[in-house]
Amino acid sequence: MELLLKFKTDSEYETAALGAKIGSLLKPGDIVALEGDLGAGKTHFTGGAARALGIDDYITSPTFTILNEYKGGRIPLYHYDLYRISSYDELTETGFEEYASEQAVIFIEWADRIPEIMRIYKNRITHVKILRRDDISPERRDIEIRRFEP
Ligand SMILES: Nc1ncnc2c1ncn2[C@@H]1O[C@H](COP(=O)(O)OP(=O)(O)O)[C@@H](O)[C@H]1O
Ligand SMILES: [Mg+2]
Repeated sequence: MELLLKFKTDSEYETAALGAKIGSLLKPGDIVALEGDLGAGKTHFTGGAARALGIDDYITSPTFTILNEYKGGRIPLYHYDLYRISSYDELTETGFEEYASEQAVIFIEWADRIPEIMRIYKNRITHVKILRRDDISPERRDIEIRRFEP
């Protein structure tokens, strides 16, 4: 069965606050797959979740480094950005499967670029889809959060 929750936000702060709510519910082994265009708010959402996990660092997209690690919170956070990754093999080379076997949470921006992630880790994934609604306002976002419940 699939659980689907729909939200709307009207500022980066509201998106971060929603990320914090999700972050506060996360358990070791959870994977958050973020989908949404450049500037949608994936990193602000992740930043809110990081704060809820007790991480004080300012969170930025690891667009060039692919991965940032934050060990200062109640659960370690691995933050991926797959904008420059084009295959599951390439992702594996970064150590992804090892990180996924740790007592940690993983946030993955552009997760939809690598469909294998959704297939292989289906039962552990919270899927967050952020849609800009420029037709309503430049700061409006529609955010869908999905989880597969086995
Ligand atoms: N409702 C909103 N939620 C998130 N970001 C917003 C919102 N409205 C405007 N913004 C702006 O959109 C940009 C989102 O940036 P970022 O979180 O880095 O996006 P992404 O990681 O998806 O590329 C920021 O400049 C932020 O100020
Ligand atoms: Mg980003």
